[in-house]
Amino acid sequence: LDATSSGQVRLEAQKGRTAFVGSSRADTWGFNQPFLGPTLRMSTGRATQVDVLNSLDEEISVHWHGLLVPGTVDGGPHQTVAPATTWSPELELTQPAATAWYHSHIHGATARQVQMGLAGVLQIDDGQDDARGLPSQYGVDDLTLVLQDRRFSRRGEIDLSLTMPDRMMGFLGDTILVNGQVGTMAVVPKGLVRLRLLNGSNARIYTLALSDGRPMHLVATDSGYLDKPTRLSKLRLSPGERFEVLVDFSDARDVTLTSEHNPNTGMMGGMMGGRRQQSGRFSVLPFTVDPTLPTRITRQPDDLGGSRPNGDAANAIWRRLSLDMPMGMGMMLGRSDRRFSINGDAFAMGRINFRVTQGTIERWTVNADMMMHPFHVHGVKFQVLSENGRAPQRQNTGWKDTVLVNGSVDLLIRFDQPAPANAPFMYHCHILEHEDGGMMGQFIVG
Ligand code: C2O
Ligand code: CU
Ligand code: CU
Repeated sequence: LDATSSGQVRLEAQKGRTAFVGSSRADTWGFNQPFLGPTLRMSTGRATQVDVLNSLDEEISVHWHGLLVPGTVDGGPHQTVAPATTWSPELELTQPAATAWYHSHIHGATARQVQMGLAGVLQIDDGQDDARGLPSQYGVDDLTLVLQDRRFSRRGEIDLSLTMPDRMMGFLGDTILVNGQVGTMAVVPKGLVRLRLLNGSNARIYTLALSDGRPMHLVATDSGYLDKPTRLSKLRLSPGERFEVLVDFSDARDVTLTSEHNPNTGMMGGMMGGRRQQSGRFSVLPFTVDPTLPTRITRQPDDLGGSRPNGDAANAIWRRLSLDMPMGMGMMLGRSDRRFSINGDAFAMGRINFRVTQGTIERWTVNADMMMHPFHVHGVKFQVLSENGRAPQRQNTGWKDTVLVNGSVDLLIRFDQPAPANAPFMYHCHILEHEDGGMMGQFIVG
């Protein structure tokens, strides 16, 4: 859905029926279609008028994950859209080109609403991709890939039930969906192909690689392009994150995008007496090369025109956040009443956790023990200063808005967008069961 010339977009949240496996159809939700939403393309440097109509029976919200816009149009849990009403935010984008996304964000219902299908990709376009030498033919050499997992009931419905390990670690499905489809494959031209990867799963962390070991060249992270491509053999993609990579198919050989199993399964699986660590890899998406498809790009670009953040933390205000599981000593001693929380506080709609001064820079140290949590902040992009006291991994050297915390990360964040008390920004774990369970907080910027 291209809004780059009209500056207008209409999204209708609606019910549908979708066949995922076999001939049985599942009840699903989507925007303008039965399941998931269309890829929206918006121009940076101009305003886009959005109309979100809610044709479902319950309230929703639509959060623009990755857009640097004021809290009043961010679409967080305070901006609910009641059934049969329309929400009409104006999104004025001034940020660099990037792959963002949108999804519902109703407190306590985000996991279920996203599982049902309230999510889609949003591309921020600056019209410069040809000049950069990047593949940009949508669906030909520029593929948008949304990775999700689901379970289906025997009747073929989306299974929303949570096992005990799901309640602790987040929902894990047994079936992989790419762009809402099971068992699909991609046909690509003989040349360089760009993959815009979004992890839209509730909790599954993918560790991606190509089956024959060929490299991926990272060109963009959550919030935009790098200065130049970075070669990776593996890419870890946690819920909410986006990475854009180039893959070279000029040898015309077929290859499969694969993933390692969820790294969080094993860490607590033993302790919980639940699932055992699975080893080996599974297939995410097979690629077949069709040499008759048009290729425009055969050479790796060397200057992407983007940047890597390189800030100075010396004068930044320092905040420490700890992502807390409802266990630890309390649970060991038989007190299971604790909830998911940050610094011991479970999310409360009516409580603002802190205030940030607009235009300032802060250093946030985020800690997670027991398991890995993807940490996301609304209304900002940030620099990963360090991971466990060392230089960030290569895939985390670009601008980000979501980062997988495996131990401890240090972030440097600049707060430019305003967020008043009635429309605060959220910070949370992007494992949606954790977010709904209270591992979220909110702050105002002013
Ligand atoms: Cu993608 Cu607060 O979320
Ligand atoms: Cu967000
Ligand atoms: Cu979490």
